[in-house]
Amino acid sequence: MEKHIISNNIFRAICQILILFCPMSELQAQNIIPKPNNIVMGSGQFELNSQTKLYTNLKGQEKLLMDKYLQTLPFHFTTGKAKDKANVIKLLIEPLQTQNQEAYQLSVTPEEVIIKGNAGAGLFYGLQTMTQLGVSHTPSTMNIPCAIVNDEPRFVHRGYMLDVSRHFFDKNFIIKMLDILSFYKINTFHWHLVDTGGWRIQIDKYPKLTELAAYRSFSDLNDWWTDHNRFCKKDSIGAYGGFYTKQDIKEIVAYATAHHINIIPEIDMPGHSRDVLWAYPELACQDKNANNSNELCIGNEKTFRFCEDVLIEIMELFPSKYIHIGGDEANRNIWKDCSLCKKRMEEEHITKVADLQSYFTNRMEKFLAKHGRTMIGWDEILDGDISQNAVVMSWREEVDGGGEALRKGHRVIMSPTSHCYLDYYQDCPYFEPQGLLGYIPLKKVYNFEPMPTGNFDQSLVLGIQGNLWTEHVPTINNAEYKTFPRMQAIAEIGWTQPELKDYDNFRTRALSAMDYLKEKKNLHPFNLRTEIGPRMESLQPCTNLAKGKKVNYLAPYDPSFAGSKEATLTDGWLGDWNGNGDRWQGFVGNMDVVIDMETPTEIQAIGSSFLFVPTGGQYLPDSIEISISNDGKTYKTLKKISVTSDYSILFHIYTFAWAGQEKARYIRYHATKPITWGDILCDEIIIK
Ligand code: ACM
Ligand code: ZN
Repeated sequence: MEKHIISNNIFRAICQILILFCPMSELQAQNIIPKPNNIVMGSGQFELNSQTKLYTNLKGQEKLLMDKYLQTLPFHFTTGKAKDKANVIKLLIEPLQTQNQEAYQLSVTPEEVIIKGNAGAGLFYGLQTMTQLGVSHTPSTMNIPCAIVNDEPRFVHRGYMLDVSRHFFDKNFIIKMLDILSFYKINTFHWHLVDTGGWRIQIDKYPKLTELAAYRSFSDLNDWWTDHNRFCKKDSIGAYGGFYTKQDIKEIVAYATAHHINIIPEIDMPGHSRDVLWAYPELACQDKNANNSNELCIGNEKTFRFCEDVLIEIMELFPSKYIHIGGDEANRNIWKDCSLCKKRMEEEHITKVADLQSYFTNRMEKFLAKHGRTMIGWDEILDGDISQNAVVMSWREEVDGGGEALRKGHRVIMSPTSHCYLDYYQDCPYFEPQGLLGYIPLKKVYNFEPMPTGNFDQSLVLGIQGNLWTEHVPTINNAEYKTFPRMQAIAEIGWTQPELKDYDNFRTRALSAMDYLKEKKNLHPFNLRTEIGPRMESLQPCTNLAKGKKVNYLAPYDPSFAGSKEATLTDGWLGDWNGNGDRWQGFVGNMDVVIDMETPTEIQAIGSSFLFVPTGGQYLPDSIEISISNDGKTYKTLKKISVTSDYSILFHIYTFAWAGQEKARYIRYHATKPITWGDILCDEIIIK
């Protein structure tokens, strides 16, 4: 150990002398994502060609993994020796000053490239940096500028989640994604394998899962909804879907392992299980309403046998220490009316259905722990007394952004909807393929800081993850478009120390990364060069007579779309493209508000805008009445507007206004809602 540290120090001293003699340029480093934590450019370059030798002191399994990875590269190395001094790349396991297993030290001189690491993962990441630093003129040659890099990640978990249930993505696509993700030092692929859109993995003990619930009658989820979400068999006319065989999974896991990516499989339970209940209806609750539910019956022991049997086969396929059991968004009310669930609650002295879910989750946690694995769940698993060993994936920022989990001493992976959901629009929705209501542009993702403030053990924050839910992701090209470049931003947050981050600098690197990926990897990313950016009207305050005036709510706003609560409609700010956040306010019922101008005021116009995203549950009012009063009791109607929505429109912001000449103290804006679910969303009442 001592000897290695001395040789490390000598290595650093030599590097420093070399640097003194080299004019430095940051230019070549512009391509590297995530930004290395320490890089010094030299002058000159190493020419990688068909005569380049490769020497490594890796042994055993790590050597096999490296060989497997090297075979995927376009370069053909001849075998080198430790004493080679020219045209050689050396991959050396040597203890670095840091203990981090993913750290590396890269030194490029015209004669040799030396990559050192504590483990194979570090050597792999050194190779990624080397490749990003280099410039290829032919596929099998590369000029690598002289440089010295000392680098290690900020977080242990740098993840990407793909939902393959709502839409299915085949083995080749998964392999392509793993290849690209590992290039950006992402080390975790969270595979959301099953959900209401279809079951996607062969399970020998329950063959009906893939026979009956891996294909559905429509690809498009809205069409499928109108067809009552029926599954069908593979050979049915128009069947859409698919699943991975065990052989597929083994190949993908092997590929991921060689690319230093751990795959965390997710089997979502006890909610999101429509697919399971279609194939095995006996696992549903004992109530007539349960037929169309998504929840497994927690009163029924068969449910536990099923979940455990499935997890056994999952653990056989996936070596991951972590297994994800979902746990999100269960409709717990379904358990209230089930005789078996009620019996379970009685027997276990459980009084709340939330605690029934934690009874279930605790059993799963213990089962996984007995098999040497650690359970991960979405942050709903905190709604009960769950073992501190469970890892929490924090997604609902409105429930304290990971804070509760940290206070309870859990390890946490930060993946908040506000910054890490890649299915949300990344640019002006008028010009984007369909996404989810919400606006998460690259800059917003990049500026996310995953370490919450507060007094807790920071090592509990394992890292960050970008999630691609695929309700609105029907094709491979669309998945690529929504993933990149936002996933590169996640990669940099996960790896690079925050003080080194700089959005403008990152954007330049992302542009060149997008060119590279399009040309060399046949990828279809979002076109960052033509990004439109935020809604213009939202960028400056909207000065008007109502600004700062009190709003009286004759009907309540929706707490889930509260905006800035009572201030929203008169704060002088119009909303951006996103319906959530602090600018738009939602109403589950009618919108009925009165603005108190404090004194009788000359008025020439009253108007307000509404966000229309019908597939996301954001509707237009069907009628609007604008009226005024001087005593706040009797109102004079100024205008009635009747609205007919065009439901073929995916996204639009509509304004409804009155113009004229009046004087009044109170202004009432009353909008009725045509549809029982969803919201009407308004950003501001503007009075001129
Ligand atoms: C989730 O987005 N339902 C975890
Ligand atoms: Zn039940």
